[in-house]
This record gives sequence, C-alpha cells and structure tokens, in this order.
Amino acid sequence: MGKNLVYVPECHSTNTLAAELSQHISTTEGTVVITDNQTMGRGQRGNWWLSDPHKNLTFSLILKPTFLKPIDQFNLTIAISLALRDFLTHRVQGVIKIKWPNDILVNDKKVCGLLIENTLSGEMIQCSVVGIGLNVNQDSFIIESASSMKAATGHDFNLSDEILMLFEFLERRYLQLRSGKIDDLKSDYLGSLYGKGELRKYFDESGENEGMIEGVNPQGKLLIASRGVVKSYDLKEIHFTR
Ligand code: BTN
Repeated sequence: MGKNLVYVPECHSTNTLAAELSQHISTTEGTVVITDNQTMGRGQRGNWWLSDPHKNLTFSLILKPTFLKPIDQFNLTIAISLALRDFLTHRVQGVIKIKWPNDILVNDKKVCGLLIENTLSGEMIQCSVVGIGLNVNQDSFIIESASSMKAATGHDFNLSDEILMLFEFLERRYLQLRSGKIDDLKSDYLGSLYGKGELRKYFDESGENEGMIEGVNPQGKLLIASRGVVKSYDLKEIHFTR
C-alpha cells in the first residue's frame, strides 16, 4: 500500500480524484492519492469533511477487492476500520472505539472518518476507493465532538512517518480480509464497537426511541434491541441524539 503515491498540493476531494484515476487500467491496487489541502472533502450522509491544510492526513486508497461479493462489502469497512483502530491504539493512549459504521473515536471524540466508495461489476467489487480523513495535528475544531491525535496526546506528529506506519496497519488487515479470516475480523470489530451493550437514545422513522446496541448484521446494518424486538438500521434510517 502506498508504493504508488500520487501527491497533489491541493484538490477538491482525494476520493473524487482517486475514482477518476482508478478508471485507468494502469492504476495498480494500493495506489494512494494524497493532498495537503483538501478544499471540498466529502463525508458520510452527504456531509463535508473539514480539515485544516497541512495539519492532517487526507488521502484515498485504491483497492481492487475482486475476491469480495457485493453482498459482503461491509467486510471491507470492518477491515479498514480495524486498521485505523489498531494504528491509533499503537500511537495514542486512550480508549479507541469504532462508532458504527466506521468513525474512529479516541476518548469518545472523532479523530478519523472513512468514506468507502465501491464500484460494483455484476457479482464482483471491481474497485474500492477508501477515503481516510485522520486528524493528526489540528488543534481546534468547530465541532465539539471532533478531536485529533495531537489533542489526545499533547504533542505534534510527523505526517510522513505516521502515514508510512498507517500503510502497514492497513495492509495487515487487508491481507487478513483477503485470506478469508472474516470471523476474526468480525469479532475484533464487535469488541471495539462504541456503545455495544449500552442503552442509547436515538431517532428512527417512528420518532424518539431507546434501545440497546446489539451488534451489526452481515450487511452492515446496526442491530438495536428495543422493547423486546431487534431492529436493523442503515445509516440513513437512524440518528443518535449523542
Ligand atoms: C465521514 O466521517 O463523514 C467520512 C469522512 C471521510 C473524509 C475523507 S478525507 C479523504 C477522502 N476524500 C474525501 O473527499 N473524503 C475522504
């Protein structure tokens, strides 16, 4: 991963750029598109991803997980989320959790977000653009629930050193996925799932509810038990009050 590195000083979105690049037959798996200044970073639920220039890591990794069926695409989310969890556990002291589906929290605050965009071709995932926004040296945030590695540790990090280390963690989990060790990946993911076994308040189509996070189903939907019934939700169907 990262052996082929495409650096642009500034761009709108590394995911958009990587998706364009991935159309070229010569683009190899593991290619990374990285920028120091992402001006229109895209996030989940159609949100923007804001990142101070030169302070953080904003990059996209091109993968070709042709061994995965579209129905199993959440397994890639699991593997990538775990790689980020492993990396942050190694680099930052604190409680590192994965907030479903793929936010990485350090001491309850979001330090990393992922936007994984798959291109399907029949029964195959032809290409996957894995966008990673990792807050490294940013000091201040407009969102109270956001944080960075620096805010968690009190010191600066060298961005080049951190990304090289991160590539190793990404490669390890990706190879685990490729070798079919899905049960191990799922159990590690559930072991790190934020709020698992806890009662949480949330909104769904029926209004405000309270339920216990039970886990995630094979399609990646969140399972919540409420009043004796377990319901499954995708990202658009549920909103937590905190
Ligand atoms: C989220 O938590 O909402 C996902 C954020 C993903 C942000 C990254 S930064 C690099 C890549 N390029 C983008 O436009 N988005 C992703």
